[in-house]
Amino acid sequence: MIFVTGGAGFIGSNFILNWLDKHKEPVVNIDKLTYAGNLENLKSVECNPNYIFAKVDLLDQTALAELVGKYKPRAILNFAAESHVDRSIHGPGDFIQTNIVGTFNLLEVTRAYWGTLPEAEKKSFRFLHVSTDEVYGSLEMNDPAFSETTPYAPNSPYSASKAASDHLVRAYHHTYGLPTVTTNCSNNYGPYQFPEKLIPIVIHNALKGKDLPIYGDGSNIRDWLYVVDHCEAIELALDKGRLGETYNVGGWNEKKNIEVVDTICGTLDKLRPRSDGKSYLTQKVFVKDRPGHDKRYAIDATKIEKELGWKPKENFETGLAKTIKWYLDNETWVSNVVSGNYREWLDKNYEGRK
Ligand code: NAD
Ligand code: DAU
Repeated sequence: MIFVTGGAGFIGSNFILNWLDKHKEPVVNIDKLTYAGNLENLKSVECNPNYIFAKVDLLDQTALAELVGKYKPRAILNFAAESHVDRSIHGPGDFIQTNIVGTFNLLEVTRAYWGTLPEAEKKSFRFLHVSTDEVYGSLEMNDPAFSETTPYAPNSPYSASKAASDHLVRAYHHTYGLPTVTTNCSNNYGPYQFPEKLIPIVIHNALKGKDLPIYGDGSNIRDWLYVVDHCEAIELALDKGRLGETYNVGGWNEKKNIEVVDTICGTLDKLRPRSDGKSYLTQKVFVKDRPGHDKRYAIDATKIEKELGWKPKENFETGLAKTIKWYLDNETWVSNVVSGNYREWLDKNYEGRK
């Protein structure tokens, strides 16, 4: 039995679907169901006897302790977080609560439970913490990519809260011997990503005939990784990762944002041409930049490749083609998540930025 926190979100739900496809081992999904948590993502497994859902907030230590006591997991994988940089700029409070205090609660509950296990189970137990490359800050164009020894230099409330959670995980290994592994991953894309992040918002807005908002001049660079490749890296880190270590996970796919938007437009022009014959490129709009916008992220994923034998299977072209096709085939999923709250978010983040 494993626990996954944040399993109703983008990466967590991809992880659970992938896991149940390959394994017979049960998984408990612990999720508060914020705006980003969506049980629709897990519809195909809701009747699977190896899937259990618990609506629990990481801030509720008592409920977490009851769950570990009841199910006695052999591993806890922590995906749950507030994850959107722009939301952390508008309101950092939830990020501090979930990402820092929530991780602390989970570590405390895990430490107490782990301390009661018999020696063999204690040894094989794992706490896997899912983190981000944003903790390393921003690169200049000619800087080498982030490695596991790059000093932490987070720049947004989101990345600062994730950095704090990484430090707590590190400290629980160092001080209490808790068997932890941390992964720091670059930008993910793929099915079930909430349309607040760059790739899904551009696909969604394009199809709705709306502006495609590009922050600043579109020259910021991200290193894109297909979500299923990330899930497989996490599984390997869980199985074979050395205790107390961190592993960087990235796609070797650095792209300027403008290139990403242009590629999406080009693909949609072919797969779902606009009725007026014009290109989706005509919907691009440059908007006022994100405050403190990190210039470039790039991951050096040599360590996980050498130690654990992981390499991404998808390149940006194949992964993006799959992603766009998924959004075209799942327009109902998208229309179900763009509710009143979502429209309020668009007003808050994009109004007056043109
Ligand atoms: P997401 O926002 O799509 O999902 C987060 C999930 O956590 C949601 O289901 C939400 O309901 C749940 N959650 C939030 N607060 C909670 C709380 N207090 N208690 C319990 N559940 C709570 O996020 P994602 O994109 O799937 O990211 C998952 C993890 O991966 C995060 O830790 C994020 O920092 C990390 N990460 C994401 C990316 C990316 O590109 N998306 C890249 C690297 C690392
Ligand atoms: O690097 C890993 C991180 O990637 C994760 O830790 C975060 O959880 C995840 O949200 C993501 O952060 P980014 O800020 O890089 O992702 P986002 O999709 O929000 O933005 C990607 C780039 O596109 C960034 O340079 C900002 C830009 N952008 C974003 C949006 C939403 C735009 O130009 N327009 C937009 O409307």
